[in-house]
Amino acid sequence: MSIKVAVFKESGAGEKRVALTPDSLSKLVNADITVSVYPNAGLEAFFPDEAYKTAGASVDDVIASADVVLKVLPPTLDEAKSINSGATLISTGQPASFLDVIKELASKGCSVFAMDLLPRISRAQSMDSLSSQASAAGYKAVLLAAMRLPKFFPMLMTAAGTIPPAKVLVMGAGVAGLQAIATAKRLGAQVSAYDVRGAVKEEVQSLGAKFVELNLEVQEGQGGYAGEQSSEFQAKLQELIGETVRACDVVITTAAIPGRSAPILITKEMVEGMRPGSIIVDLAASTGGNCELTVNGEDVNVGGVTIIGTSELPSAIATNASQLYAKNLVNFLLPMIKEGQLEINLEDEVVSATCVVYKGEVRHGPTKELLAK
Ligand SMILES: NC(=O)c1ccc[n+]([C@@H]2O[C@H](COP(=O)([O-])OP(=O)(O)OC[C@H]3O[C@@H](n4cnc5c(N)ncnc54)[C@H](O)[C@@H]3O)[C@@H](O)[C@H]2O)c1
Repeated sequence: MSIKVAVFKESGAGEKRVALTPDSLSKLVNADITVSVYPNAGLEAFFPDEAYKTAGASVDDVIASADVVLKVLPPTLDEAKSINSGATLISTGQPASFLDVIKELASKGCSVFAMDLLPRISRAQSMDSLSSQASAAGYKAVLLAAMRLPKFFPMLMTAAGTIPPAKVLVMGAGVAGLQAIATAKRLGAQVSAYDVRGAVKEEVQSLGAKFVELNLEVQEGQGGYAGEQSSEFQAKLQELIGETVRACDVVITTAAIPGRSAPILITKEMVEGMRPGSIIVDLAASTGGNCELTVNGEDVNVGGVTIIGTSELPSAIATNASQLYAKNLVNFLLPMIKEGQLEINLEDEVVSATCVVYKGEVRHGPTKELLAK
């Protein structure tokens, strides 16, 4: 008998995405995997139950008997309790953010995979959900800013006079930042960008944006990521970037260091120096924010400057974000299926890096340390 894969309906407030979409099912069905989707799991991303049935899945609640359960966000503790002993969970999330769930699942002999731990190697690119969801967030962040900014993005030459283009600064030019740059350029804004990784300079320029050079000595990171910078560096960065920030109409911040709080790039003083009506969209809100005044999940108004602290933008583009995430999951799961059975090969770099718990044993170092406290 082949394995049973079940898809949760997301329960997080405002979460509209779904872990598998009808168009992603064929590869699983062709591999003789039985797929069940919780009733209405895809409804908010506009994938009705009928579409799943047509694609070969059943629609029912079989979480309690499934071998593999798929989710977008990590499950709640109650949801984790409903997962079968010995089953395998695959979801997004840094393990530190769902320790209670990890503990519960480990106690039941389950295995847990966190897609956020995927290594940045070429073979894993098609599984990289951090990237696919970051692209969605970067795109939507610019649209959100454009909607809220009381100005045009493009330059307008009209009979009534010329309107200069909006000035947009993107801080952090990783996956989300580059998508934000491309989107802001398409809307006609004058775009500049800064990142501690000088390697992104050419990518920023190839999108037609200006790279802000600060000539600071940077602490290198690992695996393509930025490293954590010293407090002296942060102070100098804030001093040097202040003028650029104050001259901008829109600032999109995406700076992150995996597993750590987001670096503060925009201080209260910088916000106070910005023109009223300006917009900051802080995509790092859930990890503390890149702006000192950001409140996660809220809009803050400081002297007419709006700071939008959001980490939920991929959900605002739920149809495509779900399709991309579903493809990431299928590309991740399928190589682990051998003759209809799940084979977790810990010799495989991708499997090993993402496996937080293996058959009840917590094997991800930082998670083990946190659980021991
Ligand atoms: N499989 C792959 O090969 C693969 C897949 C995805 C991404 N990547 C690469 O990984 C890298 C990280 O991408 P990401 O989007 O996940 O990054 P991320 O979300 O961890 O961080 C976003 C950006 O913030 C920047 N940043 C961190 N601290 C900063 C600070 N103090 N000031 C300004 N900027 C700061 C980072 O350099 C990064 O570009 C990129 O080079 C990306 O192209 C590789």
